[in-house]
Amino acid sequence: MLVTSWSDKFKVGIDKIDSDHRNLVDLLNKLQKSYDTCLDRNETEIIFDELEKYASDHFSYEEKLMIENSYPFLSGHVRDHVYFTEMIRKWRNDEEIDCKSKKLSIFLTEWLFEHILHHDFKLGEHLSNS
Ligand SMILES: [Fe+2]
Repeated sequence: MLVTSWSDKFKVGIDKIDSDHRNLVDLLNKLQKSYDTCLDRNETEIIFDELEKYASDHFSYEEKLMIENSYPFLSGHVRDHVYFTEMIRKWRNDEEIDCKSKKLSIFLTEWLFEHILHHDFKLGEHLSNS
């Protein structure tokens, strides 16, 4: 099952941010597939590694842009990034989340939509006006 598919309605108008978001969608689908097909824990760990690396690189990029462009909503946006990072770690270490679990993908998908549509859109708007 695909968790979600990319749609242009999620574009914030900054090429790197948009392509990173597409990668996040791909990773979410990969992770979901690993739960659907019950890959062994090691294979799922590789996907988690990728997801954590992605999140860290992508968030650093956005945060650098925010600082450079005196973004007024930086603290709330960064708080949301930290929350995501902490949740990934929490889920990753949760032994009760096993294959066939839908909880993780539901959480990640909801976070992604909410974050892009509220925080990243606001950032895109600010950058296009600066
Ligand atoms: Fe963001």
